[in-house]
Amino acid sequence: SKYNKIEAFVKGFKLSTSSYKRVMHLLNQEMNQGLMRHSQPLADIKMFPTFVRSLPDGSEKGDFLALDLGGTNFRVLLVRLQGHDIDIQSKTYLIPQRIMLGTGTQLFDHIADCIGKFVRDHNLSGQTLPLGFTFSFPCKQEGLAKARLSKWTKGFRCEGVVGEDICQLLQEALKRRTNCSVEIVAIVNDAVGTLMSAAHVDRNCEIGLILGTGCNACYMETLENVQTWDEEKSHPDQVIINTEWGAFGDNGCLDFLRTEYDRELDTFSINPGRQIMEKMIGGMYMGEIVRLVLERLNMEGLLFRSVDNECDLFERGRFYTKYVSEIESDTDDFYHNTKQVLDEIGVENYTTEDCKIVKYVCTLISARAAFLAAAGLATLINRINKTDITIAVDGSLYRFHPRFHNLMCLKIQELVKPGIKFKLALSHDGSGKGAALTAAVSLRLRNTKV
Ligand code: BG6
Ligand code: GLC
Repeated sequence: SKYNKIEAFVKGFKLSTSSYKRVMHLLNQEMNQGLMRHSQPLADIKMFPTFVRSLPDGSEKGDFLALDLGGTNFRVLLVRLQGHDIDIQSKTYLIPQRIMLGTGTQLFDHIADCIGKFVRDHNLSGQTLPLGFTFSFPCKQEGLAKARLSKWTKGFRCEGVVGEDICQLLQEALKRRTNCSVEIVAIVNDAVGTLMSAAHVDRNCEIGLILGTGCNACYMETLENVQTWDEEKSHPDQVIINTEWGAFGDNGCLDFLRTEYDRELDTFSINPGRQIMEKMIGGMYMGEIVRLVLERLNMEGLLFRSVDNECDLFERGRFYTKYVSEIESDTDDFYHNTKQVLDEIGVENYTTEDCKIVKYVCTLISARAAFLAAAGLATLINRINKTDITIAVDGSLYRFHPRFHNLMCLKIQELVKPGIKFKLALSHDGSGKGAALTAAVSLRLRNTKV
């Protein structure tokens, strides 16, 4: 029947529990390698020590600037901390695609211009403000405020930045373009910012997870396990590790579960062969996988009778992940959202059965994404091996997809050691706040040392 035929084109997305256990085993192995000195720089999963070793304790105070770059929005924030009272004012600025794919100088000049404008608009000129920078790309840190970009990911590819110290590039741009006086105190990954932001209110929080444009996680590790830690092993004997697990699979170890659609998506991406795990989960890619399957079903005569060649169904990158969330939010047989999406991408003459198939494809692909993320989390939870653990989560995929949270909880439950209690908590204020908190903790420790 028709349904059997459809099944043949999508069965690759249905993975057994033993496949997810295999993923966990491989991931754990690669994480161990990433933490070992002799496997660097060969390890795919970088496991970068972040130099963030203390979580906020609620006594942090002061006014901070924060930057948040690398997700859907670029933001400048003013964060006023007074214990658990936090006031945040922020503004979103646009980063045009020509800048995302331009030169590093253009990028940092643009950022500096936005900061300059923000500082003027908020009457902050004339004081030296400490700044926390959320920079959501893989960086090798040499200090809390010294981080070299190891490679670009997601939609960015600016020339002349890989290998450079991001803080220095920003500091130089600020000098060139503004007369603001800013001290960059901390640079953090968005996963770290998310963890810091949630740890401020929940003491059990030791993992940060991003399910947004990209996918990544960080966690608190004991220094003893971190061979790549070159600094003195003073108290506290822990450090947040930015796993950069989006690169899991770059050595081919996930090929056993990748589908033809995953391969095609990768081939046409700006970074072929890179970020293999991320490309099965992240919001920048999930809609495109759905599109490739729908396109295939259409070619095979199994979906939509006649579609105009001009239709967005045949255009790479035109089926957004937010559509997947919308379609899966349909709960009855009217398919209100699904129809709206099909209208928007220009499919005409669809039937209710077509809607049902479209929704089915979305469910399979988002469930695989949620289960892979769950397998990653279960690996970390088992490593940390504490009875009560909170995972701070942020990102558009987690926020807007109707079932991601529940799917992940179910799968994690199935995969973690018995007896462990875990909780996934949405981090409300974004990682900019976490960057400001990191800066505040650092200043607090600096002052108590003197
Ligand atoms: C936000 C953070 O809340 O989540 C960003 O503040 C982060 O820094 C983002 O990158 C991830 O989500 P997205 O969907 O914007 O990529
Ligand atoms: C990409 C980046 C990583 C970031 C993630 C989520 O994987 O490499 O640094 O945390 O996207 O934004």
